[in-house]
Amino acid sequence: MATTSASASPMSSDFDRLSELKAFDATKAGVKGLVDAGITAVPRIFHHAVPAVDLKNCALLIILNTVVPVIDLAAARSELVAQVKAAAETFGFFQVINHGVPDELLAETLTSIRRFHEEPAETKKPYYTRDKTRRVRYECNFDLFESPAANWRDTLFMKMSPAPPGEEEVPSACRGIVSDYTTQVRRLAATLLQLLSEALGLHRGYLEHDAGGIDGLEVVGHYYPPCPEPRRTMGTTGHSDPSFLTVLLQDGIGGLQVHVDDDDNDGGDGGWVDVPPVHGALVVNIGDFLQLVSTDRFKSVEHRVLAMAVGPRISMACFFKTHDRCRVYGPIVNSPGDERPRYKTITVEEYVGYYMDRGLDGKSALEHFRL
Ligand code: OGA
Ligand code: NI
Repeated sequence: MATTSASASPMSSDFDRLSELKAFDATKAGVKGLVDAGITAVPRIFHHAVPAVDLKNCALLIILNTVVPVIDLAAARSELVAQVKAAAETFGFFQVINHGVPDELLAETLTSIRRFHEEPAETKKPYYTRDKTRRVRYECNFDLFESPAANWRDTLFMKMSPAPPGEEEVPSACRGIVSDYTTQVRRLAATLLQLLSEALGLHRGYLEHDAGGIDGLEVVGHYYPPCPEPRRTMGTTGHSDPSFLTVLLQDGIGGLQVHVDDDDNDGGDGGWVDVPPVHGALVVNIGDFLQLVSTDRFKSVEHRVLAMAVGPRISMACFFKTHDRCRVYGPIVNSPGDERPRYKTITVEEYVGYYMDRGLDGKSALEHFRL
């Protein structure tokens, strides 16, 4: 997919960015720590060059009536396959209702993430780490030292599958709840991969079983504190997801946007469309691995989260992917002769290594592997 220009601020010689990053990281208190300390200006390490809101594009997209679809999973199967197919081929994003995950569990999950982030700094510190081998991590910007500009966001990361952390490893604020939630979302992800397999003309179990699309699960519970200067920074820089499929739970604050391409050939590069909070809904998006194996039929679309004056905003993303880093992914061959490969055949390790080394910089990681 097309990507917008990097949202990084140029390196400036008049401040020692690395020292400031290190000093901030050493607090182990995240962005929430800055806000609690009463800062009224966004520190330079968080400054982004691109304005967060593009009014011209907003107007254009309202005229084009561009809306991320909401799909009712209670509809008849044949209709569902068609709706999911259309959404996966265009926006790469849709919301689902009647998905089977109870409303109370959605609410409890968001509350538990908020509870963790609002614990005293001393309680959270033991979880703060940049050691990517730990299954439970409290981190402020996984790519703090790699990306060109930091995001106004703290995160609780948990690797839930194939081997979930022991209950004692999970912070008490989330104990029991995140595991219940992810069990239910995994069932939903299996249903969605069945629909997507059918939409590709494959047997129902292909993406789940043959491609291992939900063998691995990593979850991130984000906390976006209110920001004193939201136009200077971003909640999450534009990126596409390093997953097969992502299921996202967001609260009612808003700020999530997806990028839509501009098809009218006027030289514009499209614009950003809101993914408005819909009570009880879950947001679903296609990840880079599914775009790769489907040879661009399904779109892993760039998305971002604006920094907001209001908040905190809470969200929880479940990244479904294979757990096997040695697994090789290339195009699915289901209609011989009709497609030439568009991506290199790569291992998961190669892709994830590239994604992590670079951090979020506003460009699609998948493009790096395009032939
Ligand atoms: C992500 C992501 C969106 C959100 O974690 O990859 O896009 O609303 N999150 O927090
Ligand atoms: Ni994402």
